[in-house]
Amino acid sequence: MWWKNSIIYEIFPRSFKDSNGDGIGDIQGIISKLDYLKDLGVDAIWLCPVYPSPNNDSGYDVSDYYDIWDELGTMEDIEKLIVEMHKRDMKLIMELVANHTSDEHEWFIESRKSKDNPYRDYYIWRPGKDGKEPNNWLSAKLGGSVWTYDDNTDEYYLHLYSSKQPDLNWENLKVRQEVYNIMRFWFDKGVDGFRMDVINKIAKAPGLPDVERKEGDKRKYLPCEEYYENYPKVHDYLKEMNREVLSKYENKLAMGQTSGVTPEQAYLYTGEDRGELNLFLQFEHIDIDRGSNNKKLPFNALEFKKSLAKWQTAMDGKLWNTLFFGSHDTSRPVSHYGNDKKYRVESAKMLATILFTLKGTPIIYQGEEIGMTNVRFESIEDYRDIRTHNVYRERYLEGGEKLEDVMQDIWELSRDNARTPMQWDDSENAGFTKGKPWIKPNPNYKEINVQKSLDDSNSILHYYKEIIKLRKSNEVLLYGDFRLIFEDDPNIFAYFRELNKKKVLVITNFSDKDIEINLSREIRKIDNFKLLISNYEVNEANIESIKLKPFEARVYEFGV
Ligand code: NOJ
Repeated sequence: MWWKNSIIYEIFPRSFKDSNGDGIGDIQGIISKLDYLKDLGVDAIWLCPVYPSPNNDSGYDVSDYYDIWDELGTMEDIEKLIVEMHKRDMKLIMELVANHTSDEHEWFIESRKSKDNPYRDYYIWRPGKDGKEPNNWLSAKLGGSVWTYDDNTDEYYLHLYSSKQPDLNWENLKVRQEVYNIMRFWFDKGVDGFRMDVINKIAKAPGLPDVERKEGDKRKYLPCEEYYENYPKVHDYLKEMNREVLSKYENKLAMGQTSGVTPEQAYLYTGEDRGELNLFLQFEHIDIDRGSNNKKLPFNALEFKKSLAKWQTAMDGKLWNTLFFGSHDTSRPVSHYGNDKKYRVESAKMLATILFTLKGTPIIYQGEEIGMTNVRFESIEDYRDIRTHNVYRERYLEGGEKLEDVMQDIWELSRDNARTPMQWDDSENAGFTKGKPWIKPNPNYKEINVQKSLDDSNSILHYYKEIIKLRKSNEVLLYGDFRLIFEDDPNIFAYFRELNKKKVLVITNFSDKDIEINLSREIRKIDNFKLLISNYEVNEANIESIKLKPFEARVYEFGV
């Protein structure tokens, strides 16, 4: 199970590295940076969708699962990527977007033609009810109804995401077999695993019932997650997928995106005796300050650490977690949880300290290793993300909220924060492209870029390399149990990891203030200890009482 001691690096290909000057990152660009990633300590790349797509949702609307999007490269390029990665002992994880396709996929083009088309039942079609949508479900991420009317056959089709992403009908065995064939095709090409997009949403409640309306609730459409998220039937499908495909191959990873899971549900997906998936992605810590319709709520560091700690203890012995603070769907962690101005370097290193010392498989999102920050485009025209434009339309243009408030939330939460071009050097367009980039780079690329980070021994990048090496060489960090200390302290996130009488202590200051803490209750005087890594110079010989600087992080080993 190589994924347990691997470091995964997520690549959003359009924004990573452009090799041919068309302004769009591509597979050849990724190949040219493999040595950089290997040197960082990366073992596996999770590659966001590279299949042909009308680009309604950055490739999460696939129109052909057996080909490569010409903007990103060719089939030869991906084959070369696989060879080059395997040469370097790295693994490739591709995306399986199987809850929905693009409406321009040939299955859907056929499906919408007539009620008796052989592909009709590949999707979820229903007649309207009293001249309205078949039910009152709300599209959780995009707002509005989950149904779109198609006058060709006078019926509606269901889409949990945009109307250009119709949901597949997993009740149809033929659909499931199509998905299994896609998996076999890529496994046979040498791909080492899949990240399965919203895989916990493939099973919908039979009959697609209306959500019951509470008295006085005037909303037209209502939140309805319980009817499609982690719906029990999903486990039958995943068991079948495992039997039909995964179990027939060796060493292939199935990493499911499973929002809204409890630890018990995560176990149902990934418990070793369950025969379903291997890893899950859960979002509890990411969602704590995201309200409905992308409203930014105040960040509460105590809640954040309690959530992380909860998952650490819930996992003990039973589950294997993934660890991440950022992705192509979030803002930049250093801006969100740290301080991207005065303490950018310190707070990015503090976050890295947590990421690489908790139990689970760490995932770095591109650019995090150099402390890339959120961007602030003044005009909505400069944003590319469909979700950002929806927020703008629904809350400002249609909803009448104040423009400043809506823009403030967009600056803090837009997915484009993570999608500005990777900052390679201080040349024009951050060294990302020689052409016109599809999305503007963050203007701070002259200061924050890979080249500068490589040249500076005190950079975030060097800290990443060092702590990754430390994690890989330290069994306690990999497999040790987790024990939270200073549980109710809102500023300190500190914990022990313990394995076979060996202990590692991680102490981080999650605030921009100096804080003094007393550890005498936690450590015995006779304990031998050694500092393994820290993001400030540490001079104290005694660690019973220590003064932590803003965003300071230290890792000690005991019993040496
Ligand atoms: C989850 C992906 O991470 C996100 O980027 C995408 O918009 C939705 N799934 C729909 O595929």
